[in-house]
Amino acid sequence: MDRYAVLGQPVAHSKSPRIHAAFAESLGQKLLYEACEIAPDELGPSLSRFHAEGWAGFNLTVPHKQAGAALCESRSEAAEAAGAVNTLIRTATGWHGDNTDGAGLVRDLLANLGVAIKGKRVLVLGAGGAARGIVAPLLAEGPAELAISNRNPWKPEEIAAALKPLGNIVPRTHLSLKGDRYDLILNATSAGHSGAIPRLPPKLIAEGGIAYDLNYGQAAVPFLVWAKSEGAARVSDGLGMLVEQAAEAFQRWRGLRPETAAVLASLRG
Ligand code: ATR
Repeated sequence: MDRYAVLGQPVAHSKSPRIHAAFAESLGQKLLYEACEIAPDELGPSLSRFHAEGWAGFNLTVPHKQAGAALCESRSEAAEAAGAVNTLIRTATGWHGDNTDGAGLVRDLLANLGVAIKGKRVLVLGAGGAARGIVAPLLAEGPAELAISNRNPWKPEEIAAALKPLGNIVPRTHLSLKGDRYDLILNATSAGHSGAIPRLPPKLIAEGGIAYDLNYGQAAVPFLVWAKSEGAARVSDGLGMLVEQAAEAFQRWRGLRPETAAVLASLRG
Protein backbone atom coordinates (compact mmCIF):
# COMPACT_ATOMS: atom_id res chain seq x y z
CA MET A 1 0.00 0.00 0.00
CA ASP A 2 1.31 3.51 -0.83
CA ARG A 3 2.58 5.33 2.24
CA TYR A 4 2.37 9.09 2.89
CA ALA A 5 3.03 11.28 5.92
CA VAL A 6 3.10 14.83 7.18
CA LEU A 7 6.54 15.77 8.52
CA GLY A 8 6.79 18.51 11.11
CA GLN A 9 7.82 19.47 14.62
CA PRO A 10 5.56 19.52 16.52
CA VAL A 11 3.19 17.41 14.44
CA ALA A 12 1.08 15.41 16.90
CA HIS A 13 -1.79 17.95 16.65
CA SER A 14 -1.86 17.79 12.81
CA LYS A 15 -5.28 17.29 11.22
CA SER A 16 -3.70 16.05 7.97
CA PRO A 17 -3.88 12.29 8.78
CA ARG A 18 -7.60 12.61 9.47
CA ILE A 19 -8.21 14.70 6.34
CA HIS A 20 -6.31 12.36 4.00
CA ALA A 21 -7.89 9.24 5.54
CA ALA A 22 -11.31 10.76 4.84
CA PHE A 23 -10.34 11.67 1.25
CA ALA A 24 -8.97 8.15 0.63
CA GLU A 25 -12.09 6.52 2.02
CA SER A 26 -14.43 8.74 -0.01
CA LEU A 27 -12.60 7.82 -3.22
CA GLY A 28 -12.04 4.15 -2.40
CA GLN A 29 -8.26 4.66 -2.43
CA LYS A 30 -6.12 2.31 -0.37
CA LEU A 31 -3.27 4.24 1.22
CA LEU A 32 -1.60 4.91 4.56
CA TYR A 33 -1.04 8.46 5.86
CA GLU A 34 0.60 9.21 9.18
CA ALA A 35 2.25 12.06 11.10
CA CYS A 36 6.03 11.87 11.70
CA GLU A 37 7.87 14.15 14.09
CA ILE A 38 11.15 15.14 12.42
CA ALA A 39 13.70 17.61 13.85
CA PRO A 40 15.02 20.26 11.43
CA ASP A 41 18.51 18.72 11.16
CA GLU A 42 16.95 15.32 10.44
CA LEU A 43 14.89 16.40 7.43
CA GLY A 44 17.54 15.78 4.75
CA PRO A 45 18.67 12.34 6.00
CA SER A 46 15.05 11.34 6.65
CA LEU A 47 13.93 12.23 3.10
CA SER A 48 16.78 10.14 1.65
CA ARG A 49 15.89 7.21 3.89
CA PHE A 50 12.16 7.49 3.15
CA HIS A 51 12.92 7.46 -0.57
CA ALA A 52 14.96 4.28 -0.20
CA GLU A 53 12.10 2.77 1.83
CA GLY A 54 9.64 3.44 -0.99
CA TRP A 55 7.37 6.13 0.54
CA ALA A 56 5.09 7.76 -2.05
CA GLY A 57 4.83 11.35 -0.83
CA PHE A 58 4.89 13.82 2.02
CA ASN A 59 3.36 16.99 3.29
CA LEU A 60 5.78 19.33 5.05
CA THR A 61 4.62 21.62 7.80
CA VAL A 62 6.30 23.94 10.31
CA PRO A 63 9.32 24.26 10.42
CA HIS A 64 10.24 22.36 7.23
CA LYS A 65 8.59 24.14 4.29
CA GLN A 66 11.51 26.36 3.30
CA ALA A 67 14.34 23.93 4.10
CA GLY A 68 12.41 21.20 2.28
CA ALA A 69 12.39 23.25 -0.93
CA ALA A 70 16.19 23.10 -1.09
CA LEU A 71 16.14 19.32 -0.60
CA CYS A 72 13.92 18.64 -3.62
CA GLU A 73 15.53 17.67 -6.92
CA SER A 74 12.86 19.65 -8.82
CA ARG A 75 10.17 22.18 -7.90
CA SER A 76 6.88 23.42 -9.39
CA GLU A 77 6.40 27.06 -10.38
CA ALA A 78 4.21 27.51 -7.29
CA ALA A 79 7.00 26.16 -5.07
CA GLU A 80 9.56 28.43 -6.72
CA ALA A 81 7.33 31.49 -6.24
CA ALA A 82 6.59 30.56 -2.63
CA GLY A 83 10.22 29.72 -1.85
CA ALA A 84 8.76 26.79 0.07
CA VAL A 85 7.18 23.38 -0.45
CA ASN A 86 4.31 21.72 1.39
CA THR A 87 3.89 18.67 -0.88
CA LEU A 88 6.56 16.21 -1.99
CA ILE A 89 5.90 13.80 -4.84
CA ARG A 90 8.11 10.77 -5.34
CA THR A 91 10.19 10.60 -8.51
CA ALA A 92 12.52 7.79 -9.60
CA THR A 93 15.53 9.50 -8.07
CA GLY A 94 14.27 11.88 -5.39
CA TRP A 95 11.43 14.27 -4.55
CA HIS A 96 9.54 16.82 -6.64
CA GLY A 97 8.43 19.75 -4.49
CA ASP A 98 5.13 21.54 -4.92
CA ASN A 99 3.26 24.14 -2.91
CA THR A 100 -0.53 23.88 -2.65
CA ASP A 101 -1.08 26.42 0.14
CA GLY A 102 -1.89 29.35 -2.14
CA ALA A 103 -4.11 27.26 -4.41
CA GLY A 104 -5.88 25.97 -1.29
CA LEU A 105 -6.48 29.50 -0.02
CA VAL A 106 -7.80 30.74 -3.36
CA ARG A 107 -10.08 27.74 -3.67
CA ASP A 108 -11.45 28.28 -0.15
CA LEU A 109 -12.11 31.95 -0.89
CA LEU A 110 -13.70 31.46 -4.32
CA ALA A 111 -15.43 28.09 -4.10
CA ASN A 112 -16.29 27.65 -0.42
CA LEU A 113 -16.80 31.22 0.78
CA GLY A 114 -17.87 32.88 -2.47
CA VAL A 115 -15.38 35.72 -1.89
CA ALA A 116 -14.18 37.47 -5.05
CA ILE A 117 -10.54 38.47 -5.52
CA LYS A 118 -10.71 39.89 -9.05
CA GLY A 119 -10.85 43.68 -9.04
CA LYS A 120 -10.63 43.86 -5.23
CA ARG A 121 -8.14 45.64 -3.04
CA VAL A 122 -6.36 42.85 -1.17
CA LEU A 123 -4.01 43.22 1.79
CA VAL A 124 -1.78 40.48 3.18
CA LEU A 125 -0.59 41.06 6.76
CA GLY A 126 2.82 39.55 7.46
CA ALA A 127 5.74 38.83 5.17
CA GLY A 128 7.11 35.52 6.41
CA GLY A 129 6.85 32.10 4.82
CA ALA A 130 3.06 31.90 5.11
CA ALA A 131 2.60 35.24 3.32
CA ARG A 132 5.06 34.47 0.56
CA GLY A 133 3.31 31.13 -0.04
CA ILE A 134 0.02 32.76 -1.04
CA VAL A 135 0.91 35.85 -3.06
CA ALA A 136 1.47 34.28 -6.50
CA PRO A 137 -1.95 32.54 -6.64
CA LEU A 138 -3.61 35.73 -5.32
CA LEU A 139 -1.94 37.81 -8.06
CA ALA A 140 -3.12 35.29 -10.65
CA GLU A 141 -6.74 36.10 -9.70
CA GLY A 142 -6.33 39.72 -10.83
CA PRO A 143 -6.88 41.87 -7.73
CA ALA A 144 -7.07 45.65 -8.28
CA GLU A 145 -4.20 45.89 -5.81
CA LEU A 146 -2.18 43.40 -3.78
CA ALA A 147 -0.38 44.94 -0.83
CA ILE A 148 1.81 43.15 1.71
CA SER A 149 2.49 44.81 5.01
CA ASN A 150 4.78 43.98 7.88
CA ARG A 151 6.18 45.67 10.98
CA ASN A 152 9.17 46.80 8.91
CA PRO A 153 9.30 47.30 5.14
CA TRP A 154 12.23 45.05 4.23
CA LYS A 155 10.49 41.68 3.96
CA PRO A 156 7.57 43.04 1.88
CA GLU A 157 10.07 44.79 -0.39
CA GLU A 158 12.00 41.54 -0.82
CA ILE A 159 8.84 39.61 -1.73
CA ALA A 160 7.71 42.33 -4.15
CA ALA A 161 11.11 42.28 -5.88
CA ALA A 162 11.33 38.47 -6.03
CA LEU A 163 7.84 38.14 -7.53
CA LYS A 164 7.99 41.18 -9.82
CA PRO A 165 7.72 39.03 -12.98
CA LEU A 166 4.36 37.71 -11.73
CA GLY A 167 2.78 41.10 -11.10
CA ASN A 168 2.75 44.18 -8.96
CA ILE A 169 2.93 43.78 -5.19
CA VAL A 170 2.82 46.94 -3.09
CA PRO A 171 5.15 46.70 -0.09
CA ARG A 172 3.86 48.49 3.02
CA THR A 173 4.32 48.70 6.76
CA HIS A 174 1.35 48.21 9.08
CA LEU A 175 1.48 51.77 10.40
CA SER A 176 1.75 53.29 6.91
CA LEU A 177 -1.64 51.76 6.04
CA LYS A 178 -3.41 54.60 7.86
CA GLY A 179 -6.12 56.03 5.63
CA ASP A 180 -6.21 53.06 3.22
CA ARG A 181 -9.15 50.66 2.84
CA TYR A 182 -9.10 47.04 1.68
CA ASP A 183 -11.88 44.73 0.51
CA LEU A 184 -10.09 41.59 1.63
CA ILE A 185 -7.56 41.42 4.47
CA LEU A 186 -5.65 38.18 4.99
CA ASN A 187 -3.77 37.66 8.22
CA ALA A 188 -0.60 35.70 7.42
CA THR A 189 1.29 36.68 10.57
CA SER A 190 2.07 34.22 13.34
CA ALA A 191 1.03 36.77 15.99
CA GLY A 192 -2.17 34.85 16.83
CA HIS A 193 -0.13 31.95 18.19
CA SER A 194 0.81 34.19 21.09
CA GLY A 195 -2.68 35.69 21.36
CA ALA A 196 -1.69 38.92 19.59
CA ILE A 197 -2.49 40.79 16.39
CA PRO A 198 -0.29 43.19 14.43
CA ARG A 199 -0.70 46.86 15.43
CA LEU A 200 -2.97 48.22 12.72
CA PRO A 201 -4.56 51.59 12.07
CA PRO A 202 -8.36 51.83 12.44
CA LYS A 203 -10.84 51.80 9.52
CA LEU A 204 -8.70 49.50 7.39
CA ILE A 205 -11.62 47.36 6.29
CA ALA A 206 -13.69 48.75 3.40
CA GLU A 207 -17.47 48.65 3.57
CA GLY A 208 -18.56 45.06 2.94
CA GLY A 209 -14.95 43.97 3.46
CA ILE A 210 -13.85 40.51 4.45
CA ALA A 211 -11.20 39.35 6.91
CA TYR A 212 -9.56 35.95 6.66
CA ASP A 213 -6.99 34.39 8.98
CA LEU A 214 -4.71 31.74 7.51
CA ASN A 215 -4.59 30.19 10.98
CA TYR A 216 -7.42 28.24 12.51
CA GLY A 217 -8.52 27.43 16.04
CA GLN A 218 -7.34 29.64 18.90
CA ALA A 219 -4.61 31.27 16.80
CA ALA A 220 -7.23 32.84 14.50
CA VAL A 221 -9.36 34.29 17.30
CA PRO A 222 -7.58 37.60 18.08
CA PHE A 223 -7.54 38.77 14.44
CA LEU A 224 -11.10 37.73 13.72
CA VAL A 225 -12.34 39.43 16.90
CA TRP A 226 -10.47 42.59 15.84
CA ALA A 227 -11.94 42.38 12.33
CA LYS A 228 -15.50 42.08 13.63
CA SER A 229 -14.98 45.02 15.96
CA GLU A 230 -13.68 47.01 12.95
CA GLY A 231 -16.87 46.27 11.02
CA ALA A 232 -15.86 43.40 8.71
CA ALA A 233 -18.93 42.15 6.85
CA ARG A 234 -17.60 38.62 7.10
CA VAL A 235 -14.73 36.78 8.77
CA SER A 236 -13.26 33.32 8.32
CA ASP A 237 -10.47 31.26 9.78
CA GLY A 238 -8.16 29.15 7.60
CA LEU A 239 -9.62 25.70 8.25
CA GLY A 240 -11.03 25.63 4.71
CA MET A 241 -7.58 26.50 3.33
CA LEU A 242 -6.12 23.58 5.30
CA VAL A 243 -8.63 21.16 3.79
CA GLU A 244 -8.28 22.60 0.27
CA GLN A 245 -4.46 22.51 0.28
CA ALA A 246 -4.76 18.87 1.34
CA ALA A 247 -7.16 18.16 -1.52
CA GLU A 248 -4.72 19.74 -3.97
CA ALA A 249 -1.90 17.57 -2.58
CA PHE A 250 -4.09 14.46 -2.76
CA GLN A 251 -4.84 15.22 -6.40
CA ARG A 252 -1.16 15.56 -7.25
CA TRP A 253 -0.40 12.19 -5.63
CA ARG A 254 -3.42 10.18 -6.74
CA GLY A 255 -4.73 11.95 -9.86
CA LEU A 256 -8.17 12.38 -8.26
CA ARG A 257 -9.59 15.45 -6.55
CA PRO A 258 -11.56 14.67 -3.41
CA GLU A 259 -14.77 16.46 -2.42
CA THR A 260 -13.95 18.71 0.52
CA ALA A 261 -17.31 19.86 1.91
CA ALA A 262 -18.02 16.85 4.12
CA VAL A 263 -14.49 16.77 5.55
CA LEU A 264 -14.58 20.49 6.31
CA ALA A 265 -17.99 20.15 7.96
CA SER A 266 -16.79 17.25 10.11
CA LEU A 267 -13.68 19.19 11.23
CA ARG A 268 -15.89 22.15 12.11
CA GLY A 269 -18.27 19.85 13.96
P1 ATR B 1 5.39 31.89 8.97
O1 ATR B 1 6.09 30.75 8.32
O2 ATR B 1 4.25 31.50 9.85
O3 ATR B 1 5.04 32.97 8.01
P2 ATR B 1 7.61 33.53 9.81
O4 ATR B 1 8.27 33.31 8.51
O5 ATR B 1 8.39 33.49 11.09
O6 ATR B 1 6.45 32.46 10.05
O7 ATR B 1 6.81 34.93 9.70
C1 ATR B 1 6.02 35.40 10.76
C2 ATR B 1 5.32 36.69 10.34
O8 ATR B 1 4.44 37.08 11.39
C3 ATR B 1 6.25 37.85 10.08
O9 ATR B 1 5.69 38.68 9.09
C4 ATR B 1 6.28 38.54 11.44
O10 ATR B 1 6.59 39.91 11.39
P3 ATR B 1 8.14 40.40 11.46
O11 ATR B 1 8.76 40.04 10.14
O12 ATR B 1 8.00 41.88 11.67
O13 ATR B 1 8.75 39.67 12.60
C5 ATR B 1 4.82 38.39 11.82
N1 ATR B 1 4.58 38.52 13.28
C6 ATR B 1 4.84 37.61 14.22
N2 ATR B 1 4.46 38.06 15.43
C7 ATR B 1 3.94 39.30 15.24
C8 ATR B 1 3.36 40.29 16.09
N3 ATR B 1 3.22 40.11 17.40
N4 ATR B 1 2.92 41.44 15.52
C9 ATR B 1 3.04 41.64 14.18
N5 ATR B 1 3.58 40.74 13.34
C10 ATR B 1 4.02 39.60 13.84
